[in-house]
Amino acid sequence: MPVFRSRKNFGIAWGIRAFFNLDASLTRSVVPSVEQMQSRLMQAQSRVEQMRKRLSNKDRQLAHLRGRLSEKNRLVAALRDDQPEPVRASVRNLRDEIRIAKIIEESAERFRVLAGKKGLKVNLGCGEDIRPGWVNIDLAPGVDPAAHSDAAFISCDLRLGLPLEEASCDYVYSSHFFEHLEYKHGLQLMRDCHRVLRPGGVFRVSLPNLKGIFDAYLRGDEAYFDLIDKLALLPEVEPGIGTLVDHINYSVYQYGEHKYIYDEDKVILLLQKIGYSSVTLSSYQEGMDPGEEVRRRYSFYVEAVK
Ligand SMILES: C[S@@+](CC[C@H](N)C(=O)[O-])C[C@H]1O[C@@H](n2cnc3c(N)ncnc32)[C@H](O)[C@@H]1O
Repeated sequence: MPVFRSRKNFGIAWGIRAFFNLDASLTRSVVPSVEQMQSRLMQAQSRVEQMRKRLSNKDRQLAHLRGRLSEKNRLVAALRDDQPEPVRASVRNLRDEIRIAKIIEESAERFRVLAGKKGLKVNLGCGEDIRPGWVNIDLAPGVDPAAHSDAAFISCDLRLGLPLEEASCDYVYSSHFFEHLEYKHGLQLMRDCHRVLRPGGVFRVSLPNLKGIFDAYLRGDEAYFDLIDKLALLPEVEPGIGTLVDHINYSVYQYGEHKYIYDEDKVILLLQKIGYSSVTLSSYQEGMDPGEEVRRRYSFYVEAVK
């Protein structure tokens, strides 16, 4: 017996079957299995875990920043007048070192410009003596180097050495500078000066003549010091109680700015040991050394050839 009596009935029956088949396949694809549900749950849990980790990282960063801020606040508080002087001095030193670190970063670019150059003339610890045609280097020259547009100036901490290429220099000069460095830094820098000089290049150094100053002190020679205004240089020494020893204090310590004092014998021996082919005691050279009378009387000069 035919199941479907007409085409219409057949169509309806086919539609019903198709609907149920479709429904079954839809159910299979839309409604997830237990395994799928478990796997999705695990994925969601792992995402929550990741977010928790990120949040706790952020908390750590926040705590770190809070720590730095309170460190800064402590520094600012330490700078206030009501702090004991040693605390304020330490904070000042720390601030100076931070400033120096910034200067070093900036100077690296200026030294890069000199890469590959030969025949340089370098003036170490130049101060205000910024020379045209020279590479003048100082940490804090005390003048605005921009006013010397015809001269190259690099602000740099020479305790870290001289970042110039080997044999790139004809001449390295310094006047009243090495006594501002600790012995180990001065020695390292003198070695560096030898490294950057070409064979035949000259290293010339002028330093305070401590031998002359001590000799004058021992002979009680007031006249030797008459170019120096004791009261201006050592304002804490009250008028009427200044004596010759104040000149010794100023020359040796200079408010703590002098770190190591040299004499002729020491400099000559050091430069010979470093490897210069000739080292000689020199004298004032017009056009090369600062010409003020005060410098000429209280300086000694050594010249070395690589
Ligand atoms: C007494 S002044 C000499 C200036 C000049 N050469 C002269 O003869 O008049 C010493 C100079 O050394 C510089 N100086 C001190 N420590 C330094 C360092 N670590 N690096 C570079 N320059 C430094 C100071 O800034 C200062 O300008």
